[in-house]
Amino acid sequence: MATAARTKRLVAALEDAHALETQAIETLTSLAESAPDPELRTALESHRDETARIRARLEAALVTLGRRTSARKERQAVLAATIKGFTGSLRDEASPHNLKDWYVTEHSELATFAILSRAADRLGYRDIAQLGRDAASLHRNAAETAAGWFDYLVELMVGSR
Ligand SMILES: [Fe+2]
Repeated sequence: MATAARTKRLVAALEDAHALETQAIETLTSLAESAPDPELRTALESHRDETARIRARLEAALVTLGRRTSARKERQAVLAATIKGFTGSLRDEASPHNLKDWYVTEHSELATFAILSRAADRLGYRDIAQLGRDAASLHRNAAETAAGWFDYLVELMVGSR
């Protein structure tokens, strides 16, 4: 079984992942609201809902380890998302840069959960490791979905739309 110090580091990683998902939900909501294409909006909203379910599982995992979510990290996540949303709103609503944020966010989540799942495995927390694998898979799929919109983004940038 993991030592207290190692478990503490796993808790910190879970809190970081939770804050990241809070930020991702804010970003996806903002992108969905400004999405010019209904299919794109649906994809963003669907992934936002999936991400909310992952965040709920992270909260449950923290509770099993005797912790709650970090208020400080949550505040930072919401502030970062708010700033990001604000800067996004300064751009054209259909700006490809806004949608590029989606692709970048997915890869940040993918890396976070790929590492979290391996760490949890090493420490013997099988349920948390499974949560990490599930989340990594979900965000990997979302990254592919985001990449599927690249041609659409190019049309917005230089095409006739
Ligand atoms: Fe994601």
